[in-house]
Amino acid sequence: MTKSVTVSARRQLAHEIISGGSGLLLALFMWGHVVLVGSILTGERGFDWLATALEDFYIAQPTVVVIFALFLVHAVYAARKIPAQLEERRRLQALAKGLRNSGREYVPTRTGHSPFRPHLDSMLWIWQVRTGFIILVLGSFHLVLIGIDIFTPLFGNIAGIESVSSTARVAAGLWIPYAVLLLCVEFHASVGLYRLAIKWGADLWLSRETLHRIEQVIFWVVLAIGALTLVVLAGWLEPPLAFLIDGGSA
Ligand code: HEM
Repeated sequence: MTKSVTVSARRQLAHEIISGGSGLLLALFMWGHVVLVGSILTGERGFDWLATALEDFYIAQPTVVVIFALFLVHAVYAARKIPAQLEERRRLQALAKGLRNSGREYVPTRTGHSPFRPHLDSMLWIWQVRTGFIILVLGSFHLVLIGIDIFTPLFGNIAGIESVSSTARVAAGLWIPYAVLLLCVEFHASVGLYRLAIKWGADLWLSRETLHRIEQVIFWVVLAIGALTLVVLAGWLEPPLAFLIDGGSA
């Protein structure tokens, strides 16, 4: 191997570790986020107590900065695999269309079914690119909004996250971008973890089918908790865990 090939391989490995590592940290953070925002399921008191504690102990302030930085690093390093040229993009579209239609074409077999099946992993990758673009836009908006919340008293009486302003803006219409963001984030994170696991050799211990099933369980469980959280934030449902805080008097 020549020296330049070795240097290029090392650089590729470093990029792979940065994009995979930042993706892994963001996926883990999103599970913490489920607990943080999910505290609204216990009612406004539970939500405000947790938010105030995280701010008083100076956990929320650095976290929002670190997550935003990780978010941008991940976007830059993961995006290097996205075809940049228009011609390549067209080929990607054609590939997506071909994969979607494969298995539907008529092929004269004994059963009448096509022997071709869409390549699941390629389809997942294409949807990861698409959801990634949506997350970049909606996630940046959300992080700026939360940053303003935490560092300024612009929305509410004090600097910090407050249930009054969070629930009011979700009910006023923010539930729409949040619902799209939630769906995209949970898909992107669970598929990302699945792809990462295969890339780093987890399929030596577990079959791809098992890993794919684990990925689907994670996706549906976290999506269900996130959707319930959003419905409570929008005020369409009373907090179902309020009895935990009010001792059954709610
Ligand atoms: C430190 C960083 C973060 C903090 C402190 C935070 C905090 C919050 C808060 C307080 C809400 C309630 C709604 C509101 O006040 O507007 C919320 C909702 C939401 N956040 Fe975040 N967030 C953070 C990062 C992220 C990231 C990186 C994403 C994804 C890209 C995300 C996705 C969502 C979604 C989808 C909702 C809707 C509610 C749900 O989970 O169903 N958040 N977040």
